[in-house]
Amino acid sequence: MISFIGAGPGDPDLITVKGQKRLAEADVVIYAGSLVNPAVLHVCRPEAEIHNSASMTLEAVLDVMERAVGEGKKVARVHTGDPSIYGAIREQMDALDDMGIPYEVIPGVSSFLAAAASLRKEFTLPDVSQTVIITRLAGRTPVPEKESLAGLAQHKASLCIFLSTHLLDQVTADLIAGGYPEDTPAAVVYKASWPDEKAVQGTLRDIAGKVAEAGISRTAMIMVGQFLEGPYQRSLLYHPEFAHGYREAERGSGE
Ligand SMILES: C[S@@+](CC[C@H](N)C(=O)[O-])C[C@H]1O[C@@H](n2cnc3c(N)ncnc32)[C@H](O)[C@@H]1O
Repeated sequence: MISFIGAGPGDPDLITVKGQKRLAEADVVIYAGSLVNPAVLHVCRPEAEIHNSASMTLEAVLDVMERAVGEGKKVARVHTGDPSIYGAIREQMDALDDMGIPYEVIPGVSSFLAAAASLRKEFTLPDVSQTVIITRLAGRTPVPEKESLAGLAQHKASLCIFLSTHLLDQVTADLIAGGYPEDTPAAVVYKASWPDEKAVQGTLRDIAGKVAEAGISRTAMIMVGQFLEGPYQRSLLYHPEFAHGYREAERGSGE
């Protein structure tokens, strides 16, 4: 059996209980060494065979999995954050399907959630935004034209931009070209939940300069939107005038 495990954003306490159990039982561990905090692996058995996939191809990863499963071993495939986001797990799962090898996926705390926690922000504020867009700028992996940053900008939703801090000038230019005012709040969180985490806050006008000054160019989350700063309506869920299935209204329906 193969277990794909989301390791969380960095803090080894942010892996799920289930993910940690699987990791502690694994005979073979393949972890994405470029981003997974090695401290997450401290629960592994001393005799576990550990591979860092940063220096491996997809084929090499699949070879290790196939051999281990053939020997009746348990395999933990550890990805950073949540494996469904920029994790390249689909190609592994499709190959395992072709080989008839069973697997499970254990989700993890994605870095965009750790970044919001670090800044103590909520993405979905009433009257501000009820939508979170997760995206990136094109790198070696292209982004479909219909998802251009300037195009997404028209929604003015809460934005989380992965894998793009080294292109922050272009990010801000695209968003401004797409209609965001230059004074829109923007933040960059480097290594959210790691001991050397750093956060920089500003606006679309000045964030690139501030981030360059802080020496941040990778492993960081770019967040943009009015959810970072400014007014919002309180939620109706906890409002005394509104009733719902679990609570009666205290002062009528408010109508
Ligand atoms: C290949 S993606 C993997 C994302 C991962 N699957 C997740 O759910 O967070 C790598 C990118 O995620 C972001 N990232 C990963 N860990 C981070 C962290 N601890 N703090 C901020 N950003 C992080 C950065 O934008 C980085 O370039």
